[in-house]
Amino acid sequence: MSAVLGITNVTRRFAGLIAVNDVSFTLNQGEILGVIGPNGAGKTTLVSLISGTLAPTAGDIAFEGRPITKLPAYQRARLGIGRTFQIMRPFPGLSVLDNVAVGALFGHGGGESDLDKARELARAQLDFVGLAKFADQRADELGGPSRKRLELAKALAMQPKVLLCDEVMAGLNLVEIDEVIEVLKRVRERGISILVIEHVIKAIKSLSDRLLVLHHGEKIADGDPDTVLSDARVVEAYLGRRRA
Ligand SMILES: Nc1ncnc2c1ncn2[C@@H]1O[C@H](COP(=O)(O)OP(=O)(O)OP(=O)(O)O)[C@@H](O)[C@H]1O
Ligand SMILES: [Mg+2]
Repeated sequence: MSAVLGITNVTRRFAGLIAVNDVSFTLNQGEILGVIGPNGAGKTTLVSLISGTLAPTAGDIAFEGRPITKLPAYQRARLGIGRTFQIMRPFPGLSVLDNVAVGALFGHGGGESDLDKARELARAQLDFVGLAKFADQRADELGGPSRKRLELAKALAMQPKVLLCDEVMAGLNLVEIDEVIEVLKRVRERGISILVIEHVIKAIKSLSDRLLVLHHGEKIADGDPDTVLSDARVVEAYLGRRRA
């Protein structure tokens, strides 16, 4: 299996706090890699370091074998790295369709330069995530679960090779979670490699080929989901804490 993303000894400090501490791993072509860990473990910071909205304090990040550590976020998007945001940021005054069209205009390969074509691509993504009926509504009129889908549609409209999902299932009910799992599985069938952060263990287990666990910014496990979830350090750090 070839690595699409290579993260090597990546550290990010915020003043006195080490949010991500010497983390290394790869995301392989066509893989769904689940990332879990307690609140504040460094998961969102990791996604920001890969997408380029934050710079690492130390370490290297490679995309398809090429170093991207020094590239700004928009150039990484052009190479094919798409992400969703845990704190959702739709353009409130724009329609749902145009929010997604923005993704199409700034995506992989420099994006679509023609607005009509961008809207066409956006409509296809809305259809794909099940939001087509809301296309002409204002984005700020959408309810929480639909906003999560909007985040996904925006990222997919960038036509990424790698999709980084930060808690796209948070706040959803079990039926909605299953629907998003199906969407992500179909995304992978398109050949897109996925890194997915999620707190719902059942969801992440059924979705992921591999699981990586962060705790206090450090990687404490990386491997087959069943093995990782029964690892003593993981149970103590993550599952044990949730039971307490
Ligand atoms: N911009 C920032 N400035 C200062 N500290 C930050 C910043 N961003 C994150 N942190 C801190 O870094 C640590 C990791 O935060 P991060 O958001 O990556 O965690 P997380 O695993 O995504 O948590 P959650 O499950 O709550 O989303 C936390 O202690 C957080 O307070
Ligand atoms: Mg987070």
